[in-house]
Amino acid sequence: MSGKRIPLVAGNWKMYKTIAEARQLVPDLVRGLANVEEVEKVICPPFTALMAVKALLEGTDIGLGAQNMYWESEGAFTGEISPKMVAELCRYVILGHSERRTYFGETDETVNRKVRAALEVGLIPIVCIGETLTENEAGKTQAVITRQVQVGLSGIQLQPDVTGGIPLIIAYEPVWAIGTGKAATGEFANQVVRDLIRPTLSTLFGDEVAHSVRVLYGGSVKASNAAEFFTQSDIDGALVGGASLKAEEFIGIVKAAVESV
Ligand code: 13P
Repeated sequence: MSGKRIPLVAGNWKMYKTIAEARQLVPDLVRGLANVEEVEKVICPPFTALMAVKALLEGTDIGLGAQNMYWESEGAFTGEISPKMVAELCRYVILGHSERRTYFGETDETVNRKVRAALEVGLIPIVCIGETLTENEAGKTQAVITRQVQVGLSGIQLQPDVTGGIPLIIAYEPVWAIGTGKAATGEFANQVVRDLIRPTLSTLFGDEVAHSVRVLYGGSVKASNAAEFFTQSDIDGALVGGASLKAEEFIGIVKAAVESV
């Protein structure tokens, strides 16, 4: 099997932080994360703060991501942002977050269009999947996760680059664990990744790709529980919501990832 998966910790700021507020947070992150090289760091501010944050990250190794985009490259789509617009500023884009699915009608099919469009312009999509509480309790986790991976990633080609890395990341975020303070256990999350997500990736793209894709866990991750996830065999980092808005917490999570390397 090829390359080792480099851990990645991404902060999804959601609809928090004005430009002024971002200018307060980012310098603290930059200071706290200087010389932390073993783990890849990404922050995903709202669109309005991307330019300002990009300027503050210049000369650092902290990556920048957007939280969404539309799939068309341009046109009369009032209020939308195109892949090439995102790619001018960012290397990453979060797609298919459960809040987009719940509040903005995104489906596996629309997520798939976005994933394809992101890859076409060279963006690295962070594709979010995860079952709801109802689905979990009804024993539908396997069916939901398999469908989200199969449909969300259908029709795409994935190949390791020269470093053995794959230009696509999956975030397993059980919906019941998002913003609830009730994180999944490390063991449960690892089982989903190892026994459902990677095998599905394997049927789509083969064993090597399935082994090399980084899969993050998301849902109530904080500095004090992060190690529980990072020490699991198949979890390669975290997609962090609330705790990414506080420098000390986010830095603590990244440091927990470093310790697991
Ligand atoms: P919380 O970390 O606030 O639970 O949010 C997780 C999330 O949705 C990240 O995308």
